Amino acid sequence: MPDPGRGLLVVGAAEVVTLAGGPRRGPSQADPAIAPPGTAVACLDGHIVAVAPEAEAEETLAAGLVTAGREPGAFDRLDVAGATLTPGLVDPHTHLIFAGSREDEVARRARGATYLEILAGGGGILSTVRATRAASDASLVAHGRRWLGQMLRTGSTTVEAKSGYGLDVPTELRLLAAAGRLAAEGPVDVIATFLGAHAVPPEVREAHPGDAAAATEAYVAAVIGEQLPAVAAQGIARSCDVFCETGVFTADQARRILLAARALGLAVRLHADELAPSGGAELAAELGALSADHLGAPSPEGVRALAEAAAAGRPVVAVLLPTVPWFLGLAAHEPARALIEAGVPVALATDFNPGTSPVTSLPLVMTAAVLTLGLDPSEALVATTVNAAAALGLADRGAIVPGLRADLVAWDVRTHAQIPYWAGADLVRAVVSRGGIVAGGQAG
Ligand code: NIG
Ligand code: FE
Repeated sequence: MPDPGRGLLVVGAAEVVTLAGGPRRGPSQADPAIAPPGTAVACLDGHIVAVAPEAEAEETLAAGLVTAGREPGAFDRLDVAGATLTPGLVDPHTHLIFAGSREDEVARRARGATYLEILAGGGGILSTVRATRAASDASLVAHGRRWLGQMLRTGSTTVEAKSGYGLDVPTELRLLAAAGRLAAEGPVDVIATFLGAHAVPPEVREAHPGDAAAATEAYVAAVIGEQLPAVAAQGIARSCDVFCETGVFTADQARRILLAARALGLAVRLHADELAPSGGAELAAELGALSADHLGAPSPEGVRALAEAAAAGRPVVAVLLPTVPWFLGLAAHEPARALIEAGVPVALATDFNPGTSPVTSLPLVMTAAVLTLGLDPSEALVATTVNAAAALGLADRGAIVPGLRADLVAWDVRTHAQIPYWAGADLVRAVVSRGGIVAGGQAG
C-alpha cells in the first residue's frame, strides 16, 4: 500500500471535474463544476488539501507537511498527462457478497420464464442463498475481493454492499462480517447494508405449506425480532434495505421492517418498484429514506411523492440501475428524465448481483444511462459521484474539494463527456484512494 503520509500532488489534467457544490437535482444535475485549466490537486493524510493552480497547490501541500512536522518536499507528484480527473466513483447499490453464479437463468428467461417466476419456483435469489449458506467465510471474502478489484479498475473507490443471501441470523451476520473485513482491507471503502428482507427462505416457506402470505408474515417477524437486533449489535451495517415488490414484500411489511431498523439506529433505503408499481417510491418519501432504488416502474403518485419530498428539503435520492432492465430483457426503463424534471436527485449504481446485473463497471452503467435513460454525460457523472455519495449519507466524498477524502480517478480521455461514450473501454489511467495511488499511475 502507498504511504498517504507522503502527500500527493496531481498535475497535468486536461480537465479537472470537481463536482463541488453538494448533491444536485433538477437542472443542476447537469452541472459537473469544471475547474480552470491548469488546476492541480494536493492531497495529504488521506484528504484533499488544495484544488488550485499548480504552484499554489504545491505551496499549500508543502506548508501542510511542515505543519505536520515533515519535510516540505515529502510528497509524490503524479502527472496525469492530459487525462480527465474526477472524484473516485461511488457505487451506492451492490449485492457484493454471495457465492456462485446463475448463468442458467439467462437461458431460461430467453425461453420465456420471468424473473419473479424463477424466484417463486425456488430459484433466483434462493439458488444463490443455497450456495451462499454453503460457502466458507474465507471463500465469501475472496469472492467479494475479486469483484471489488474489478470495480476499482473501473474507477469505484466506494462501494455499498448488501447482505441478503443468508436470510437467517448466522448467515446474514457472516455476510456483513465479510463486507466489514473487505472495508478494513481497502483500498475500496465498503459500506455495508442489511437486506434480510430480500426473499422468504425455503425453511420458512416449508413451515407454511400452501400459504405464501403466512410464510412472508412469519419471516417479516423474524427479520424484525431476530435478525435486526443481531445486526444492530454486530455494528457493521449502516443501513437497512427491503425488497419492496409485488409478490415479495409489501409496502406495509417494508414500513414495519424499516421503522424497526430506524429505531435501532440504522438508516433506511429500499428496493422500490423494480418490476411493478408496489408503493415503494411512496414509502421511501414517507419515511425520508436515504434512497429509493431501481424505480423501474414507479407509479405517478410515487414520482410525485419523491418530488414533493425533494421540494420540502427532504430529498430521497433515486438510485437508478439501468443495466437491470437490459440484463432482464425488459422493455420498461427507469423514468430518469421525469425524475430529474421533477427535481428528484438521481444517482446510478451497478446493482452488482448474480441474478439481474452481474456488472461491476460504473462507466458501463453510465453508458447505459446515457443510451437508455437519456441522461447526458454530466448528469451521469453527477449520478456516480456526489449524488451517489448522498445516497449513502456520505458528505465526505464524491467531489474534489479541500477537506474531502482524497479519492480520485484519472481517465484516459480529455473530457468527462467521453467516459460513457467509449462504451466498455478500459479508460482508467490511475486511481487514488485516501491520497495513495492504488491502481495504474506512476508517481515521480
Ligand atoms: O437488485 N431484486 C432484488 N435484488 C436484486 C437481485 C438479486 C438476485 O436476483 O440475486 C436486484 O435486482
Ligand atoms: Fe439490488
